[in-house]
Amino acid sequence: MSKTALVTGASRGIGLETVRRFILQHDEITTVVMFARESEDFDAAVAELEAQLPIGRKVVPVRVDVGDREALKKAVKSAHDEVGSIDILVNNAGYTNPVPLQQVKMADFEKTMSVNLYAPFTIVKTLLNRGNRFELIVNIASTAGINGRSGWLTYSASKAAVINMSQVMREELAIYGTRVVCLSPGRTATALRRTLAPEEDPSTIMQPEHVAQVIYTLSSPVGRFIDSENIVVRQ
Ligand SMILES: NC(=O)c1ccc[n+]([C@@H]2O[C@H](COP(=O)([O-])OP(=O)(O)OC[C@H]3O[C@@H](n4cnc5c(N)ncnc54)[C@H](OP(=O)(O)O)[C@@H]3O)[C@@H](O)[C@H]2O)c1
Repeated sequence: MSKTALVTGASRGIGLETVRRFILQHDEITTVVMFARESEDFDAAVAELEAQLPIGRKVVPVRVDVGDREALKKAVKSAHDEVGSIDILVNNAGYTNPVPLQQVKMADFEKTMSVNLYAPFTIVKTLLNRGNRFELIVNIASTAGINGRSGWLTYSASKAAVINMSQVMREELAIYGTRVVCLSPGRTATALRRTLAPEEDPSTIMQPEHVAQVIYTLSSPVGRFIDSENIVVRQ
């Protein structure tokens, strides 16, 4: 069977490593829709993947700010028109701007919620309302959503909400045969982690490939035997 995946935050880090595994190694995924904002890095990542694509496989890059709800809905609809049913969705795009709580700007809190929480919800709702039946939805939360961390109020709160939202999706979408998994990585060497912990040596922590490999396993035939609401992946 030929399957289609959609991965947000596909320009780098965990998202890009997930796309790499899906399109180059997966037995069944033949199309991957990649969401990220327009950037040279995104163009380079797409070009690098396209140069290695096996025959009959394709990536479909979509340049969109997932924090812009109207633009996101439009992008989801046109991607769905172009590729058809989305079997596997990985809600991975994430944003953080850590500051002490006295300095939190509401606009930034709202942006954090828009990118980390409302975007995954909007993608799922938009596709469900178009009759899309997912096989698997993976929502990327964080261990910061399990335990709040000092200085990370907006990020921790958004990720806690992703964990809870995933439980609701899991219950509501079970009737369609959809598996919903929340995956909470611990510290992983990416640009986002550098924003959260600028002093840390990235070579001492988990790499994005490790998290991507777990997502890949969830999407493989053995993945349906992994029955957990919130999978924690950490060193
Ligand atoms: N790294 C960690 O330690 C860690 C730990 C726990 C959870 N996580 C979660 O893992 C996920 C992936 O993050 P990462 O660590 O791989 O970080 P990353 O390398 O910085 O990647 C973040 C991705 O999100 C995308 N993104 C951010 N804002 C966006 C927006 N407004 N519209 C569209 N795309 C946007 C970025 O794309 P563009 O900027 O190119 O648009 C990029 O592809 C996030 O949800 C993060 O919260 C990370």
